[in-house]
Amino acid sequence: MNQRISDPAASVAPDFIKHAKLKAWVAEVAALTQPDAIVWCDGSQEEADRLFVQMVAAGSVRKLNHAKRPNSYLALSDPSDVARVEDRTFVCSNKREDAGPNNNWEDPATMKETLKGLFKGCMRGRTMYVIPFSMGPVGSPIAHIGVEISDSPYVVVNMRIMTRMGRAVIDQLGDSGEFVPCLHSVGHPLEPGQADVKWPCNKTKYICHFPETREIWSFGSGYGGNALLGKKCFALRIASTMARDEGWLAEHMLILGVESPQGEKTYVAAAFPSACGKTNFAMLIPPKSFNGWKVTTVGDDIAWIKPGKDGRLYAINPEAGYFGVAPGTSEKTNFNAMATLKENVIFTNVALTDDGDVWWEGMTKEIPAHLVDWQGKDWTPEDGKAGRKAAHPNARFTAPASQCPSIDPDWENPAGVPISAFIFGGRRSTTVPLVFEAFNWNYGVYMAATLGSETTAAAGGAQGIVRRDPFAMLPFCGYHMGDYFNHWLRIGHSVEHAPSIFTVNWFRQDDQGNFIWPGFGDNMRVLKWVVDRCRSRAGARQSVLGWMPKYEDLDWSGLEGITRGQFEALTKVDVDAWREELKLHAEWFEKLKDRLPPALPLKRELLELGLVD
Ligand code: GTP
Ligand code: SPV
Ligand code: MN
Repeated sequence: MNQRISDPAASVAPDFIKHAKLKAWVAEVAALTQPDAIVWCDGSQEEADRLFVQMVAAGSVRKLNHAKRPNSYLALSDPSDVARVEDRTFVCSNKREDAGPNNNWEDPATMKETLKGLFKGCMRGRTMYVIPFSMGPVGSPIAHIGVEISDSPYVVVNMRIMTRMGRAVIDQLGDSGEFVPCLHSVGHPLEPGQADVKWPCNKTKYICHFPETREIWSFGSGYGGNALLGKKCFALRIASTMARDEGWLAEHMLILGVESPQGEKTYVAAAFPSACGKTNFAMLIPPKSFNGWKVTTVGDDIAWIKPGKDGRLYAINPEAGYFGVAPGTSEKTNFNAMATLKENVIFTNVALTDDGDVWWEGMTKEIPAHLVDWQGKDWTPEDGKAGRKAAHPNARFTAPASQCPSIDPDWENPAGVPISAFIFGGRRSTTVPLVFEAFNWNYGVYMAATLGSETTAAAGGAQGIVRRDPFAMLPFCGYHMGDYFNHWLRIGHSVEHAPSIFTVNWFRQDDQGNFIWPGFGDNMRVLKWVVDRCRSRAGARQSVLGWMPKYEDLDWSGLEGITRGQFEALTKVDVDAWREELKLHAEWFEKLKDRLPPALPLKRELLELGLVD
């Protein structure tokens, strides 16, 4: 369906496109951006193969050793384009107040003028791809459709893994189905004869959302959430506003299933900020001593959750693939992820081995003697010792979810899976205990609303500073955070069987800066307690923060090393630290005060009153 055109505005869509509004939008974008050609993507294997051949020939991706990593590729980005750019991300609601202090805002008409200026002629010398995609199983009542227009073939092949993409979506759209238009350009037009670069992008970047008209315009970046517009832009920022209006939830959450030896199945959804362990937790393998317990994966990053007729909340994973952090992923830390990565993977910004495979920090104990690093330069362990990373800290893999050994049998169930618990957790070296359960829904919302985490590379800023990341949604909520808290309070009271709410922290450190909790597979010990609490079996004691396990309430089988003393350190509520913490909560609430639900500062006061030495 490759169409060479001399006058893009006069472009005709292939016969099977019956959707007048879609055709008109594509023609309008082509007239503005002036591409050399238009390709309507059908999502087929042949189409993907053709694009990979073109990209390999152009030097923008490299095919990995077929014997080691069949049908897999490596892309290295421009060093200036390695992560989401939160300071260049805008929510352009009609009223500034509706975007809230949690978003950058610009008036929609003004922003459209700026964007039109940038998009004018921005696809010259390039091919424009029309990418129809479904977030969620095609035709599911929880799913929604988008169409991304992009001038990046790398985006096309990634969207093909991350979403249900192509012909089936066009058929589902018919002649008048609803879709969210998602316009993307790397912002690097080519004049006649001008050679392309390996990773085209633009110094100027704008990631813009228009919640009222449900549109996305993204300019200047080819990386991750900036460019794969089905993910954060649609499935979180735009979908969160749809969810607010329609009474459901669009969340930055993994979804997993826990099966007991008796065959009872419990599903939980967990929100951890970016690069804080969602993928690891979603694919957890229980310790050997947990005979008969099984964890299954529904999703690792995003959950769409709707009330069901039986009074429970049902969740789907709107994505079809994993766009996961590579560094730190190993057979030890995440065996299932490593198995998912055996073939059909796109790697971005990891290192290349001499035999044409990939490597990243933490992948193997043995460090290869020679690599080509993520910037295409020679690398030896000496460079590593000097602090130069072989893989970028935000290097990622794109892999089909269907390849995950722990994939849940219901992961594509159009009705979703019933959620029994919500878990919230950040990266906190102090203060926050290993696990506690909120006394009630409103209090759970309070804990999620004040969630803090020490920053990582994905935020683009300094590392190790605690920032508030409510519900792990700070960069992803498409409207005022105060309204979002209100929406959560309302949802909890509108369903008969609201899930229990838990807080966890895998990252507490001792005085020497070592993690006290072993984490990873051993997180099963906490997860089992959570699941048992939902089924009202596990024991607990009341603490000022919530219900907490006593030492004997956790299953310690097969684990040496966590003594009662260490358990005390992991679960201690340090009253002085919490007084300081509550001051930060107050400062945080002050920022949101124009729309903050009064229930939340009241909860803060109650908590403060309860803090006694
Ligand atoms: P996004 O895809 O950015 O939304 O993030 P994610 O939450 O899926 O990130 P991911 O699972 O890839 O997080 C990886 C980081 O979490 C690595 O630094 C891991 O070492 C760390 N991590 C994951 N689980 C644990 C754990 O149980 N304990 C400790 N200490 N670190 C963990
Ligand atoms: C995140 O940053 O939370 C991600 C990666 O999941 S990206 O898709 O680039 O936003
Ligand atoms: Mn994420």
